[in-house]
Amino acid sequence: MDNFNEYLPLIGICVSEEKRLMCELVERRIKKFLGKANFIRFYIEDLDFEMLQVKGDVFEKDTKEWKEGIFPFPDAIYVQCHIDQEVLKQIEEVIGKKVFNNFIFDKWEGWSLLAKDHLLRDNLPVTVILESKMDLKQCLFMYQDIMLKPVDVSKGHSSRGIFRVKLKKDGKIKVFFAKRLKMKEKEFSSFKDFFNWFSGKTSAKDYIIQQSIQTVTRGENITDIRLNMNKNAKGKWKVSCLLFRVAANGSHMIPKTATALTIENLIKVYPQDKIKWEEIEKSIILLGHKICHVFEQQGYHMANLGIDLGLDGSGHLWIFEVNPLPFPLDGTVKDHSLTKPIEYALSLVSK
Ligand SMILES: Nc1ncnc2c1ncn2[C@@H]1O[C@H](COP(=O)(O)OP(=O)(O)OP(=O)(O)O)[C@@H](O)[C@H]1O
Ligand SMILES: [Mg+2]
Repeated sequence: MDNFNEYLPLIGICVSEEKRLMCELVERRIKKFLGKANFIRFYIEDLDFEMLQVKGDVFEKDTKEWKEGIFPFPDAIYVQCHIDQEVLKQIEEVIGKKVFNNFIFDKWEGWSLLAKDHLLRDNLPVTVILESKMDLKQCLFMYQDIMLKPVDVSKGHSSRGIFRVKLKKDGKIKVFFAKRLKMKEKEFSSFKDFFNWFSGKTSAKDYIIQQSIQTVTRGENITDIRLNMNKNAKGKWKVSCLLFRVAANGSHMIPKTATALTIENLIKVYPQDKIKWEEIEKSIILLGHKICHVFEQQGYHMANLGIDLGLDGSGHLWIFEVNPLPFPLDGTVKDHSLTKPIEYALSLVSK
């Protein structure tokens, strides 16, 4: 096949119809990567374990086009979709432990995995599965401020489907939710009214309830922290991007409307604050490493994690979520997580 150099390593990127955005990213990753390799993208069901070959598309660097073909099993595989653990084992029997990002988890699986580690307990907001109206009522009355998040990441990202619910001193309930990049507010005079509205909107299924954390604010606006971690070519976890984001509202982040700042800028933004930003930066990175370590410890082969954190007024860090398929940040900020996974894939080949 033209443009397929059999002397170069073959990197496979496993994609799916469900995660279309990830599929589009593949091309950007390859175009940005300067090293030499053949790249194919394929669906998991197109692996032929009898013939040890796979149907997929090869990326032709000259024409910048994808061409369908039949290829040998890749030397390393970067997973960008859900993968059944049995299929994973089967692939590993053929190519060895060279399949990475092999655990694509939802918000509940992610929280449960981290909660197994006692070192992370202090950084995890209390989280339960929403099973009944009573669960929700109890949590709200216990914490007065909770987040409702869809479990399935494909149903909710960029704050879609998320509600922040506050119980006010007068017993009324205030809800915040994003609609067309704007934060909306609604007030209910009773829990019953709120629940009817919420279940009408969402069917109140497949949600987690999480204790809300009041993060440090800039004016009225809340903040959060985005940390992208990637494995380098030596297999060591490194920070590829660390940003502090300021929302355009007082409830929770709507990514497209947020202002992203580097940690250095923060010192300028909060000059009189008691918070020691250099120390905070160190503890953010340490927490990132602890999170990555838990995945290793539990036997998952990951190499690219997006971590959302929050910093409260006392300088304590909270883990809001870990994304197994983080979207690299574009534009003005430096984010190496676009090409890092490709470099890592290549390093696996020579192992
Ligand atoms: N427990 C919490 N307490 C306070 N704020 C929270 C909490 N969890 C999440 N948030 C806020 O809500 C935002 C969205 O939450 P989360 O990251 O869990 O959902 P998401 O829809 O997957 O977001 P994204 O796709 O932008 O990563 C966070 O960036 C943070 O600002
Ligand atoms: Mg998030």
